[in-house]
Amino acid sequence: MKITGRRIREFQDRIFSWWEHNARDLPWRRTRDPYRILVSEVMLQQTQVSRVLPKYEEFLHTFPTVGSLASASPAHILRLWKGLGYNRRALYLKRAAESVVTDYDGTFPQDEALLVKLPGLGRYTARALMVFAFEKDVAMVDTNIRQIITHFFYNDQPQKDNVIQQTADALLPHGRSWDWHQALMDYGALALEKPKKIIRPKKPAVPFRQSHRFYRGKVMDLLREGTISEGALQNLFLQDYQVSLEFTSTILDGLIKDRLVVRTGQTLHLPEK
Ligand code: ADE
Repeated sequence: MKITGRRIREFQDRIFSWWEHNARDLPWRRTRDPYRILVSEVMLQQTQVSRVLPKYEEFLHTFPTVGSLASASPAHILRLWKGLGYNRRALYLKRAAESVVTDYDGTFPQDEALLVKLPGLGRYTARALMVFAFEKDVAMVDTNIRQIITHFFYNDQPQKDNVIQQTADALLPHGRSWDWHQALMDYGALALEKPKKIIRPKKPAVPFRQSHRFYRGKVMDLLREGTISEGALQNLFLQDYQVSLEFTSTILDGLIKDRLVVRTGQTLHLPEK
């Protein structure tokens, strides 16, 4: 569908007038430091703003520069990551920092094609840096922006990625990319009516307690406090959650494979390097 220039301007005005009165003051909006922006984007990937806020400050207080994160031990980073979940993100963040230090002399590249090659960065995060750190005129699409676009331009009907991207490109007000994307983030989070959930016959819900993620989190929280032997962990899980020794081993193997946990002899611990 071709969107007319007039519709584009109307939409831009609507978003910007709403934003004049509703902009959130968030700490990652007070900086253009690509390292700080990257930390915020990685934390915000699967975690709510309210949970990220206190962690963000603490993290940057401990690791104020890309160099300090690159040289930190994974164990130290993972301890600070407590409460954010999806711990693999923390390891990717460290690897990205290492790459910036070793491949780019500690200065982030300002080229999207180079940014997407950093460990753990996808197209969205690379563009978030282009927009929020370097103020470049490129259009980002995340879940919220996609919803805004399908809502206003496609009657809430899902569209292919390239259609959404082309629409996002057409809507971008040149020279105001930073404001525009922050405004869309706020609009998506605060103003957009979320499409009503279709009511389906209830699937038997798998309680979070029984998911791998729950037990992975428990292991990580234990190891944040110290070390434990595999046998002791199996006994603990058997007592506390009535899960088999084999199940605990499966959880552990996954964490070791993801390099979130290291086994030295009988002892389990967080990775020191
Ligand atoms: N989620 C990802 N980036 C964000 C930002 N800059 N502001 C609010 N929420 C976000």
